[in-house]
Amino acid sequence: MVEVLQLQKVARRFGGLQAVQNLSLSIGGGEILGLIGPNGAGKTTLVNVITGVHRASSGRVIFEGRDITRLAPYQTARIGIARTFQIVQPFPDLTVLDNVAAAALFSQKGLNPAQAREIAAAQLAFVGLDKQMNQYAYSLTLAMRKRLELAKAVAMKPRLLFLDEVNAGLNSAEVEHAMVLIRELAARGITIVLIEHLMQVVMNVCSRVVVLQNGALIADGSPQQVVNDPLVVAAYLGQKYAQLGKQKNTGPTDAVEA
Ligand SMILES: Nc1ncnc2c1ncn2[C@@H]1O[C@H](COP(=O)(O)OP(=O)(O)OP(=O)(O)O)[C@@H](O)[C@H]1O
Ligand SMILES: [Mg+2]
Repeated sequence: MVEVLQLQKVARRFGGLQAVQNLSLSIGGGEILGLIGPNGAGKTTLVNVITGVHRASSGRVIFEGRDITRLAPYQTARIGIARTFQIVQPFPDLTVLDNVAAAALFSQKGLNPAQAREIAAAQLAFVGLDKQMNQYAYSLTLAMRKRLELAKAVAMKPRLLFLDEVNAGLNSAEVEHAMVLIRELAARGITIVLIEHLMQVVMNVCSRVVVLQNGALIADGSPQQVVNDPLVVAAYLGQKYAQLGKQKNTGPTDAVEA
């Protein structure tokens, strides 16, 4: 397996808080890697460090053999790394099409607006938002905004894609649809890191799972290994499954969200 991303003792502090601590991890091409852990574990911070939103306090980030530790977000986008945002932030006064076209322009040098819109239209069809193409982004429902977020990331033509809670707030049918899209992206050869609180999604689509707690890696293995790891149960899953027992009336995907 070809190594796509390597983290070497990556750390990020915010004042006195160690949000990510000495994290070393290697991600292979074609993996769908689940990145899970309790709220505040450092999952989003790690994505921010890799994509250049936050500087690493120490350590190195290597993408396809190249040191990208000090690159800015537009630079990591141009070399093939894309991410969705946990809190979706479309340009509300641009159309859905132009939101995606803007992402294509941000990530690919030398595109003209017509070419960017062509890429955007194709990705909107992929996520099933083509009918909303000419609406303003502010008019979209949450589920549609999540799909827009995915279309924006895919329009950046990534080889490595971080999906930060793309299923949060969606109903079961919407989650099922998102899982199909994620598998299709992986089948195209895109390496995916899936940050996800819905364990049903993690168990269904991930080939490997890593668990963060207090900024440190506490487990790394197959989905089955990880859910049976006593450390993971104590740090994260015990609490979730306890909640599941109390929420008998909710649907299967809603019930396991943290
Ligand atoms: N810009 C920031 N400034 C200061 N502290 C921050 C900043 N971003 C994150 N943190 C802190 O770093 C820690 C890790 O946060 P992070 O958002 O990475 O967690 P997470 O694992 O993504 O959690 P969640 O599952 O709730 O999304 C938290 O304690 C958070 O308050
Ligand atoms: Mg987060």
